[in-house]
Amino acid sequence: MRKSLVAGNWKMNGSNGTVDQLASGIVKNQADMTCDVVLCPVFVHLDRVSGIIDGSSVELGAQNCSDKTSGAFTGEVSVEMLKESGCKYVILGHSERRTLFSEQDSDVRNKLSLALESGLMPILCVGETLEERELGNAEEVVQRQLLAALSDLDLSLESVIVAYEPVWAIGTGLTATPEQAQAIHSFIRSVLGELSEELAQKVRILYGGSVKPGNAQEIFGQPDIDGGLIGGAALNVDDFIAICQAAG
Ligand code: 13P
Repeated sequence: MRKSLVAGNWKMNGSNGTVDQLASGIVKNQADMTCDVVLCPVFVHLDRVSGIIDGSSVELGAQNCSDKTSGAFTGEVSVEMLKESGCKYVILGHSERRTLFSEQDSDVRNKLSLALESGLMPILCVGETLEERELGNAEEVVQRQLLAALSDLDLSLESVIVAYEPVWAIGTGLTATPEQAQAIHSFIRSVLGELSEELAQKVRILYGGSVKPGNAQEIFGQPDIDGGLIGGAALNVDDFIAICQAAG
């Protein structure tokens, strides 16, 4: 039985004040949530969110990491620095990183290896654009992204979470139907099964893309959907809690 997980990807939002309110509002309601809950603020807010969630069941994640361990890489943040700031998770290969910051499959792979080596749990994002879907290439794209990141890893796949985020559903208000999402989630599990059948059954696969309190229950009700990676709705305490409850 896979335990559901809901992660809030706060993206580049918030101030010291709003981040404090959001994190403490979520911690206050932790008793109502039975899924794993992860908050992913920007780097400079990690320490303060870490302090607020300390002693609660809510956990911390980063939105990215460097593919280098240390040195002259201005503006980068290493996996060890994230761990020191209290992170247990790191989002990797988000479509905004792939499209706006030109991250390649090979970059995602290098980051993922470093995260696993350091004991951080990667949330590996995959997903097709609208054009790729309309050309009938959604599965091919998702398979390429998965295998580029995960093939021939010495480290256990059990320590990886996959997030399927169709690019056309991110921040657009368009959501994949539960059936469309389930079809790709099931496909992702079958691709993981080629790497290890046993682990494919254990890996949690999250859905992301315009998840809201009104559609969460139906999406999370699908057999291969183990929770969500939430953007806009994670910036509102009540909405985020309602989504976590739908996953529980
Ligand atoms: P929205 O929930 O705002 O569509 O964002 C999804 C996302 O990109 C989470 O990583």
